[in-house]
Amino acid sequence: MSGNDQDLLAGLEAMADATLRKRLELMLAARGAFDQELTACETLDDCQRLKGKYVGRDGSLASEAMPAMRGIPVAHKQTLGAEINSIKKTWEEKIKARQIELEAARKKHTSLTDQWDPTLTPPVPARGALHPLNRLMDRLVEVFRPLGFHVEEGPEVETEAHNFDGLNIPEDHSARASSDTFYLAAHPELLLRTHTSPVQVSTLRRVAHDLAARGGIRFLAPGRVYRKDEIDPTHSPMFHQVEGMLVGHGIGMQHLKGTLEYALRALFGPHTEIRLRPSYFPFVEPGCEVDVSCPLCAAKGCRVCKGSGWVEILGAGLIHPNVLKYAGIDPGEWSGWAFGMGVERMAMMLSQTPDLRLFFENDQRFLKAMGGLD
Ligand code: DAH
Repeated sequence: MSGNDQDLLAGLEAMADATLRKRLELMLAARGAFDQELTACETLDDCQRLKGKYVGRDGSLASEAMPAMRGIPVAHKQTLGAEINSIKKTWEEKIKARQIELEAARKKHTSLTDQWDPTLTPPVPARGALHPLNRLMDRLVEVFRPLGFHVEEGPEVETEAHNFDGLNIPEDHSARASSDTFYLAAHPELLLRTHTSPVQVSTLRRVAHDLAARGGIRFLAPGRVYRKDEIDPTHSPMFHQVEGMLVGHGIGMQHLKGTLEYALRALFGPHTEIRLRPSYFPFVEPGCEVDVSCPLCAAKGCRVCKGSGWVEILGAGLIHPNVLKYAGIDPGEWSGWAFGMGVERMAMMLSQTPDLRLFFENDQRFLKAMGGLD
């Protein structure tokens, strides 16, 4: 026992109040335990607990001992009182130091430079993309653009006049039946257009007055069309078409054939052949169906062309005089050609997709695989 400790003991013994003495004894006795517990502190929480036990405001060894110092006789205040104060101060300082140490270690561990690898590729958000059918329509537009064709648009809700009358489609034509066409219940004269051909009517009517100043017109009209078809692998009540039209002076089948040959070769490859078969559409005379040599088997015969080497790709013809007349254009002065083509049909052929419904389900796996369409 050191001389100092003997002084402290003497001080304790001189205390009259046993309860107060006990509190000071406890504090003196805890010195060794404190040092051990301090070294065992691994976290800031441990430090907090240690602080509560030894020096906290309430119920700690020090907070109990402080008021007990009033029981120390004056002669021992110098030694015993000073010792108690100094123990408290030491504990506080040691806890503070340990806290700083642990805080620094934690900061170092979680610092940016510790966690951040600047060589890693940053997470890039998924990019959207145009739907394969829109890309195919865009491609068609791009093929025709250098030939002076621009894009015309028409409403998807059309009048019966534009969808049928202006296209020389007779009153009793089967396509007009409500079994084939979606009419608007509240407006019987309105319908969802059944083809893109009504854009011919609205566009011709709009430009009729200055057709000569324009030197004619040529345009494409891509868009959605609607028919009361059941949904099956080759039918859908909504699908897409691209309409093409040219009006000028002295236009004949040779211009139609030459233009289509150019465009379809741009689309399917330079060795593509085309053939025109006579057909009937009320808005053209003569009318034809156009086939291309099968782009998938180089016309050797495959599943897509059903062994024939040819696939039907569009309907076309020379604009019927009644269509020009309806739009206010003199068929004696002007002539032209038109065509209409099914976009899904072409996309299915090019991608060898057997089921049309895949284009509308928007399954990301399908859409990604369709990247090769263009
Ligand atoms: N509108 C026709 C259809 O939906 C396609 C068509 C055929 C359009 C011949 C034309 C054309 O412009 O000349 O079946």
